[in-house]
Amino acid sequence: MSLRTDKSQAVTDAIMSRITVRDFLDKPVPKDVLAEIFETALRSPSGGNLQPWRAHIMTGETLSNFSEAAIENVKSGVMEGETFPAYPSPLWEPQRSWRYKLGEDMYALLGIERDNKLGRLMWLANNARFFGAPVGIIITGNVKLGMAQHMDIGIFLQSLMLLAREAGLHTAPQGWWRRHPETAAKFLNIPEDEHVLVGMSLGYGNPDAKVNDLWADRAEMEELVHFYP
Ligand SMILES: Cc1cc2nc3c(=O)[nH]c(=O)nc-3n(C[C@H](O)[C@H](O)[C@H](O)COP(=O)(O)O)c2cc1C
Repeated sequence: MSLRTDKSQAVTDAIMSRITVRDFLDKPVPKDVLAEIFETALRSPSGGNLQPWRAHIMTGETLSNFSEAAIENVKSGVMEGETFPAYPSPLWEPQRSWRYKLGEDMYALLGIERDNKLGRLMWLANNARFFGAPVGIIITGNVKLGMAQHMDIGIFLQSLMLLAREAGLHTAPQGWWRRHPETAAKFLNIPEDEHVLVGMSLGYGNPDAKVNDLWADRAEMEELVHFYP
């Protein structure tokens, strides 16, 4: 295919309308729509064209059985070994405050007070339900992947999230699933030398759910972007 030089119209809109949706409608995503999203996302770039991502896409019975097993883990307090932690520990400023504010803003919307630890924990367990989405995705990769390949996988994730918007769908990326690798191995065909990198809920967002009103702040451009004349 020769170089396309026409302007790409839809990207800004897809980026600006993508948010992490944490409540989905009980409405199936047509198989062909799903297939097209993945087919296109596979065009994502990767260093050396290694294409280090593997996607496991669950719907229907597999999804509900998988979710049920994860919910059971949460209920019984089972902690499976985490593939790798979500954040460096301890976090430093300003990231520490940004993370804190996200949580506070979300729980304020949900009306769950700071001292209601159980309420907050129970809410987090919605991750196990893929937030009610009709499609649950687990992304795996080889245990030997380096930092550069993890960047590639981030690009793949963003492709999926933006393509979902183009199809009128929303997503929730979920590092949470790294804490349930054994459950994932039970339900999915994951080779021995691969592990869970991230999960994702995908479906039609519930416009009436309060939690979906969350508009996560961003830093001012000057703080993160430096122009050199
Ligand atoms: C790799 C990755 C993992 C994430 N994991 C979770 C998760 O496990 N649970 C969750 O509720 N949100 C998760 N998020 C969503 C972030 O909290 C969210 O992207 C951030 O607060 C910005 O909000 P926005 O996506 O609505 O713009 C994750 C996001 C990314 C990119």
